[in-house]
Amino acid sequence: MAETILNSEFPEPPGVARSAALMQSFAARMGRQGRRVVLITSGGTKVPLEARPVRFLDNFSSGRRGAVSAECFLRTGYGVLFLHRARSSFPFAHHFPPQTWLAALRPTRREAEAPGGRLLLEAEASALPGFADALLTYQEAAEAGTFLAVEFTTLNDYLHLLQAAAQALNPAWCVGSSAMFYLAAAVSDFYVPASEMPEHKIQSSGGPLQITMKMVPKMLSPLVKDWAPKAFVISFKLETDPSLVIDHARRALKTYCHQVVVANILESHRSYVIIVTKDSETQLSLSDEEVGKGMEIEGKIVSNLQSRHMAFIDEKN
Ligand code: PMT
Repeated sequence: MAETILNSEFPEPPGVARSAALMQSFAARMGRQGRRVVLITSGGTKVPLEARPVRFLDNFSSGRRGAVSAECFLRTGYGVLFLHRARSSFPFAHHFPPQTWLAALRPTRREAEAPGGRLLLEAEASALPGFADALLTYQEAAEAGTFLAVEFTTLNDYLHLLQAAAQALNPAWCVGSSAMFYLAAAVSDFYVPASEMPEHKIQSSGGPLQITMKMVPKMLSPLVKDWAPKAFVISFKLETDPSLVIDHARRALKTYCHQVVVANILESHRSYVIIVTKDSETQLSLSDEEVGKGMEIEGKIVSNLQSRHMAFIDEKN
């Protein structure tokens, strides 16, 4: 059902086949290593309002949840497939926006005779705390092939890449491995079908704008039923009204029959979440002291979920 909608109303963007091939070889490598693997979706999707788009519908997600979680999963030994919004927070790098290193790094020597030239840089360790560790951890993961980043921008990119990622992590490719889906991206629920989009920039001379948007099919349904039926699937639920969030999380579990919903509320989502399963609710929070030490809630979320994943794998075996 969703596959049909993807084909007819969401034409495949260029580059998906290439990303699919990269994801398949990543999944096969993780399978050969018998490594647990997590697909993290991260950041918001962009929905164009015109065929030659000038204007878009977007959302608040910064991708920080996904980026910090990716770091935690890598440290725990997972292979991480990071499907993220272009230019949103990136694992390890998000701690160091350009303002931090533009001021701290200094060129010391230029070795013009080296092939292509070589620029040596230095910084006081205290000017970039944690930078060397982050760089080493990232480069180790990249060299070991345990981290693969794939970018999306539009809703259309996201939907096709999610399908390709889910199919790559299907046991046919990922033999010996066990996959977790950690769907933290904020995916648009509304879109303008290609057939109904104005081709050119909408003119303000036409007066106030009224747009009717269609509902985006929920990808959780084909993901759980068809694309990755053996995987451990975690969706996220964000609300601004705290009185709704648990009911909505429970409704999602009932509708899609997956394993976990991480429920969060906009105002407190950096320091408080509730892990909701069919028969439990576990609150995770950061104390002021933990915040003061620079701890992030994702450490607790990942630790909780990886124990549940282990139990899920044991039960399946
Ligand atoms: O990125 P940050 O700034 O750090 O913020 C993190 C976050 C708040 C965005 C994250 O923690 C979060 O809650 N993400 C989910 C936001 C949300 O409520 O999305 P939703 O209600 O539209 O979707 C719920 C679930 O259904 C999501 O897991 C989504 O992947 C899935 N979905 C959504 C739309 C769609 N068409 N198909 C889907 O399967």
